[in-house]
Order: sequence, then C-alpha cells, then structure tokens
Amino acid sequence: MGQLNLSKESWSSQTVFILAAVGSAVGLGNLWKFPYITGENGGGAFVLVYLICILLIGVPVLIAEFLLGRSGGANPLQTMANLTRRHKASKLWWLLGLNGVLAGVLILSFYTVIAGWGVAYFISSLQGSFDQISSDAVGAHFSGLLQSPYELLFWHTVVSIATVMIASRGVRSGIEKAINFMMPGLLIILLILLGYATTTGAFGQSFSFLFSPDFSKLSWEAVLIAMGHAFFTLSIGMAAMMVYGSYLGEKQSIIKAGLWIAAADTLIALLAGLVIFSIVFANGMEPGSGPGLLFQTLPVAFGQMWGGVFFGTLFFALVVMAALSSAISLIEPALSWMEQSWGMKRSKAAWLLGSVIWFIGIGTVFSFNRWEDFDVLGGRNIFETLDFITTNIMLPLGGMLMCVFVAWVMNDQVREDQLKLAPLWMKLLVFDLKWIAPVAVMVVFASNLVAADS
Ligand code: PFF
Ligand code: NA
Repeated sequence: MGQLNLSKESWSSQTVFILAAVGSAVGLGNLWKFPYITGENGGGAFVLVYLICILLIGVPVLIAEFLLGRSGGANPLQTMANLTRRHKASKLWWLLGLNGVLAGVLILSFYTVIAGWGVAYFISSLQGSFDQISSDAVGAHFSGLLQSPYELLFWHTVVSIATVMIASRGVRSGIEKAINFMMPGLLIILLILLGYATTTGAFGQSFSFLFSPDFSKLSWEAVLIAMGHAFFTLSIGMAAMMVYGSYLGEKQSIIKAGLWIAAADTLIALLAGLVIFSIVFANGMEPGSGPGLLFQTLPVAFGQMWGGVFFGTLFFALVVMAALSSAISLIEPALSWMEQSWGMKRSKAAWLLGSVIWFIGIGTVFSFNRWEDFDVLGGRNIFETLDFITTNIMLPLGGMLMCVFVAWVMNDQVREDQLKLAPLWMKLLVFDLKWIAPVAVMVVFASNLVAADS
C-alpha cells in the first residue's frame, strides 16, 4: 500500500481516461485487421464468433484488467508484485507483467510498419494519386509500395520515431486533444463512406457477407483467430489497459468505461467492414486477399466520391493518428516498467525501446517482399509469426491469467470496492471470470493443438 510513485500521472477526469483508453483500443485492429481477417475466414460465422468473444471474454477481461491496474497502481510487473504481496499469492505472477511487456514490443514492431503504409497513403492521397482511380490501378499502386522495401523501411522509421517522441512526453500530454478530434472525425468519415457504400449496388451483399453465418466455413483455427482478435482489438491481455487503469481515479466507474470502450471499438470495426466489403463485391475483388485489403479498396471509393481527395487525405491522416494513439499504449507497459523499476529516464527508455522495436520491425518490412516465403512457423513468414504468437497466444494467455487473479486470488471485498456492482451483476461477472472466459480460452487452445496434430 501507498508506495511512493513520483512519475505517476493521474487523470483529471473520467473523460480523459476514457479518451486515452478508446485511443488505445481503436486503431489498425479495427480498420485494417478486422476486415482482412474476416475476409480470409469467410465472413458471417467468423464475425459471430468474434462478437461472442467480445461479449463473454473481452468485456469481462477489460474490466478485470482495469481493476488490477487501479488496485495495484503501478507498471505491470510492479502492479503484479504489489498485488501478489497483498493477496499472499505466488511470486510467479510477475511473469504476467513480463508477458505483457514482451507482447507489446513484438506487436509494435509490426504495427509501426502497417501504420507506415497509412502514412504513405496519406501522402499519395494528398497528391491526388487516387482521383478517379480504378480498382486495378489501386492494386498496382499497393503492390508497388510493397515491392519497395526501402520505402517501407523509411515509413516504418518515421512512425517509430513519432511513437517514441509522443511516448517520451508521457501518457497525458497531447493525446487528449488529438483523440478528441480523431474519434468524431473517424466516425464521420466512416458514415460518409457508408453512404457511398449504399450506392455501389453491393451493400446488401456486403451486409449478408458479414452477418449471415455459414458455419461450414468455420475451423478451429478461425475460432482462435476470432478470439485472439477480440483481445487485440480491445488492447487487453498485455497490461496496456492495466497501466491505464493505474491512472484511473477511485471514484470513476470501471464498468461504464469498459462497456463504452467495447461498444465504440466494435461499432468502428463493423462500419469499416461494411464499407470495405461493399467495395470488394462491387468491383469483383477478392475478400480473402489479405493484409492489403483496406489499402486496395478504400482509394476506389475516395476516387469516385464527391470531395474524395479531401476525405481520403483526412481519412488516412486519421488512420495514422488512430495507430499512434494505440502505439503509445503498446509501448507503455515496457516504458513504465523501465522508468519506475529500473529508474531510467523516460525519454532515454523510449529511445532505447524504439530502437529495439524498429530493428525487429525490419523482419516485417521484408515479409512483404524479399522474405515473403521465408517459413518461420508452420508456413508463416516473420510478420505472420509475430502476429500469430502475440495475438493468438500471448494476449489470450495473459487475459486468462488476469481472470484467474481477479476471480480466484482476489476476494469479494476488493472486487466490490473496485466495481460497486449490483449483487446479481457481480455474481454473473465473477462466474464469467472464474469459469467461462478462462475455460473458453483453454478449450480453443486445446482444440487447435489437436487440430494441428491430425
Ligand atoms: N487495440 C489496438 C487496435 O485495435 O489497433 C491494438 C493494440 C493496442 C493491441 C494496444 C494491444 C495493445 F495493448
Ligand atoms: Na481495436
């Protein structure tokens, strides 16, 4: 209790905390990743599993993670050490914090590369390159970018430096205003694009692709990917939200925050999906074309619609801002740990971490050209391996352990003080955290091991 923590900033209000947490959640996961993995995994049934995972695993884990952070009050490793001491639990719990620190660094190493595509597209859009562009020409534009490793490396470097510079100023300064303008901006452009999507003649097809489930297309691997994405998109399982929770005031409602964040995140992902698949089907494109999907579809819409150069440029600027506000939360577990527990200066730690992340990111840069077919793990190249290990293994594992800590190690009193829930809701939540969420994660893991074996 009450350890001295000079570097800890505290949130001025519920709004600021919500903004930062929404900024972490809403990012490339919604705009870039959700549509392309949905396309690769056949649509409806995958989306349904994803939504069930958000509700039964994602929201409860998000609440548990905020609770751990606010109750432990420090960086992930220190938080787990504080909580372990207070609740007389095993000393090994600090590994949960370490898992988060490592996952954040590994995710950020590819996240900055993809955000770099966003910067490149922002410039192209600004130059008017997408005006009246055909879907074939967009495809060629995108492959041109991927085939230039040094261009990708350049944008990856730009994003890495931007992330370090923002992160070294601390979580609060700056992001307030940026996110205040980014979230409504993103929503407005997505709604304008939705209007465009209804004029393509393929909106109905897009809608049924996303919302009419065909379970014959669902494999155990697809279930694992849907579950992993529920963690990725809500920024949970790796202690980023735990750090943000440690900045949250005692009077603020964890439950309300968790529900709002999940709702906003899901809305933005579904809107992006509806728009992108309308463009896919209207232009006879392939839903399963992979990580390029966002970048091969939206320029077609901007090229055709009224004010497209303006909206397109603004959209890619917002994509980059959304990515940056997530990137600073990906680096925060490692950064706050180095700052508070190693006694390093924040800016020095940020540059050091940024260099490591930049270096690992080179593997992802080459995964889209020279090393595309370089097999690291079961047919996956470097990018695919990093994505798979972090999103589908480290985050669910971390989230499962958080459930175990909150539901099995902590006591009723702590949970009640932190959450102030009506008794029935508390019972349901604790039941979910005790049984449903952790068992679901284990069942999905086990089924994948069995399926991979046969
Ligand atoms: N939630 C972010 C997105 O959807 O783009 C990605 C992310 C951020 C994952 C922070 C994990 C994290 F800790
Ligand atoms: Na997200």
